[in-house]
This record gives sequence, C-alpha cells and structure tokens, in this order.
Amino acid sequence: MSDSVFSKDILQGKVAFVTGGGTGITGGVARAMAEHGARIAITSRKEENLAAMKKLIEDGGGECFAVAADVRDFEAVQNAISKTVEHFGKIDIVVNGAAGNFLCAAEQLSPNGFGTVIDIDTKGTFNVCRAAFEELKKSKGQILNISATLHYLATPMQIHVSAAKAGVDAITRNLSVEWGRHGIRVNGIAPGPIEDTEGMKRLLPEPLKEKITKKIPVGRFGRIKDIENAALFLTSDAANYVNGVTLVVDGGQWLLGTSLG
Ligand code: HXC
Repeated sequence: MSDSVFSKDILQGKVAFVTGGGTGITGGVARAMAEHGARIAITSRKEENLAAMKKLIEDGGGECFAVAADVRDFEAVQNAISKTVEHFGKIDIVVNGAAGNFLCAAEQLSPNGFGTVIDIDTKGTFNVCRAAFEELKKSKGQILNISATLHYLATPMQIHVSAAKAGVDAITRNLSVEWGRHGIRVNGIAPGPIEDTEGMKRLLPEPLKEKITKKIPVGRFGRIKDIENAALFLTSDAANYVNGVTLVVDGGQWLLGTSLG
C-alpha cells in the first residue's frame, strides 16, 4: 500500500463485489480496492480461496465479506448479490474476474469443454451484471470486466477462451451503451501475460518465460499490480467519462502477435 501511486481514499465509501476475487489478478484487484477505501465482497466457487483472501484483506485493515457462488448459476449469483446488499447496504462496483482456462487444441476440445469456459467467462459475466443491475442503478455504479487480448488476432489452443473473452468485450460495449443512461459505467481490462497467476502457470511452462519476455515490447511480464492500478483508475472518479472501453494492459505485447508460444 505504501508504494501506491494513488491516494489511499480514492474508493472511500464504495462497496465492490468481485467475482474470482479469491485468487490471482482479481484477488489482487479486490485487495487493492480495499487498500484504497472500498469495502469488498468476494465470491468464488472455492471456500478455501475466499477465506484466505478475506483474511489478507482484513489483516490489511480492510473490510471483506465472502460469499461462495458459481457464476454459472444465476440463482447462486442473485443470492450472493442479495447477501452482499444485506451486509453492506449497497453495491457500487462490480468486477467480473471469474474465468476458466486450459490449453486444448480445437480438434481435441469437446463441446462441453468449449461450453464450460463460455459459461464461466461470458455467461457468468452476464449473470453477475444482470443480477447486480438494480443495485448499480441505485448507486449509479459501474462494472469492470476482466478480459484478455487472445482474440485480437488468434491464439492456438485457446479457441474456447478467445471466443469467451470476445463475448465479454461485447458485453462491455453493449452494456456501456444500454446502461450508460442509468449512470452506470461499464469498462474492461485486457491483461497481457501476467506473472504469478494461475492462468500463466497453466498456459506457459516456466522454461518458455525467457523466450516470451523477448516478445514483450517493454521487456518484462506484467505484474498483478499493473492490473490493480488500471482497475483503480477505471473505477475511480478519475475515469468518470470513460465508458465502454477495454483497456489493454500488456506492455504492447499483442501488437507483436498474441501467440505466446
Ligand atoms: C481439455 C478439458 C480440460 C483440459 C476440462 N476440460 N479441463 N478439456 N483439456 N485441460 C473439459 C472436460 O473434459 C469437460 O468436458 C469440460 O471441460 C468441463 O470439465 P469439468 O472439469 O467438469 O468442469 P469444471 O470443474 O466446472 O471446470 C473446469 C475448468 C476449471 C474450466 C477447467 O476448473 C478452470 O478453468 N479452472 C482454472 C481457473 C483458472 O485458471 N482461472 C484463470 C483463468 S486465466 P467433457 O466433454 O469431458 O464433459 C485467464 C486469462 C487468459 O482466463 C489470458 C491469458 C493470457
């Protein structure tokens, strides 16, 4: 926190509901939002991830409410939103970070494997936005969708995730237009390769890391903190007129080709 470039109260008084908030990039975003004044609700399928993040946030002096839900299950999402409102009284910010991923060649991927990632990433994002709409309308709140750059060109072994994240970007644009008139801003972040994340562990064997580093214009992998900073900017008043944007945070990597291999 001490090294944050942002004032520590930029999200003071806000309540953020963060899916996939137990771990990885969105766990970092949840923690960073707490360190900048927001009260945080985190949701994930796994109770143990939620408990660990709740403790981390509380140890840092923040407030955290943890509620387990699978974003594929609309009723479970509605329940998580209701419980959060019961607990904190409102929701100002929704962060959609829950995502599924594995490497698989298109000809080996089962329809259910394809559909599972679409269900988690795309339908899950819609489910959460839809369930939070009335609360966000009341608070003139905002949505932040975590996407990717995989689909800007083409990424082998990632047809399912590419299709899913393209859908997430469409949700960001459509809702920014449909819900902007309710005072709800909807934006996204497209992270590039971010080190120390579950996604990278699954997608990129450690020995390839050095080779890939050379393909990143700024000469390094992203850090979770890079995404935290983008999220703090987009959800703060500094971005009051930013709506419908998916901010690429990748050191310029996708411009040289999205394939990490
Ligand atoms: C091929 C697979 C597979 C694999 C699952 N499936 N894993 N197919 N290769 N490695 C198939 C199964 O065979 C099955 O299809 C279907 O997917 C559903 O599998 P389940 O295990 O029943 O599903 P479930 O437990 O609900 O979820 C599985 C999962 C999830 C989607 C793999 O556990 C998961 O993704 N966890 C990872 C979370 C994660 O890493 N999140 C960070 C994402 S990073 P069949 O036909 O057999 O029934 C990210 C960033 C991208 O998104 C950008 C990076 C640059």
